[in-house]
Amino acid sequence: MRIAVVPGSFDPVTNGHLDIINRASKLFDKVIVLVSYNPNKQKARFSVKERLEMINAVIGDFDNVVADCNDGLLADYLERTGACAIVKGLRAVTDFEYEFQMALANRQLCSTAETVFLTTSPMNMYLSSSMVREIASLGGDINGFVPPAIRGVILERLSPNHGNIKK
Ligand code: COA
Repeated sequence: MRIAVVPGSFDPVTNGHLDIINRASKLFDKVIVLVSYNPNKQKARFSVKERLEMINAVIGDFDNVVADCNDGLLADYLERTGACAIVKGLRAVTDFEYEFQMALANRQLCSTAETVFLTTSPMNMYLSSSMVREIASLGGDINGFVPPAIRGVILERLSPNHGNIKK
């Protein structure tokens, strides 16, 4: 069975991620969406449990996609699960150097897995989880950026209209 891992912070998962997950699900027998730890990022806004719940709420349509979490090295997770690929979305040239570095490091740490880059769909080119968090926390409309199933959870937590932002 050809297993692919789609790793990320997913704080929260967005339409851009879902597009990559959907396309990866057609290329591999099984796809694991892996909530991972990025030591370069400050504390996440959503807990790992919440991020997993949001992912589970949006992957229901795919028979071969599951969600999991890992707070260690991605390479170790690949070895443990026997995954043969890391799938990442490439949005713009600016993503490339960082992604290239990570792909090389992961290849060195786990020679049995390849990194596969999928180019983002044009409408998700400038989308990121932090952009979604910023728009929601300023009371903006996040329709079109995140799947409808998790819009309420994100707004509930971040929107000033829900009284969570102190003025
Ligand atoms: N559409 C829309 N947005 C996208 C996207 C897409 N297709 N792909 C990525 N993004 C966004 C993400 O939401 C993220 O936004 P944010 O910075 O506002 O949160 C941003 O682009 C960067 O994404 P990415 O480069 O995937 O970073 P990440 O923090 O989500 O994931 C890890 C990085 C977790 C995969 C990486 O740190 C890791 O592998 N950690 C495990 C520890 C490890 O093994 N470290 C050694 C690695 S060599």
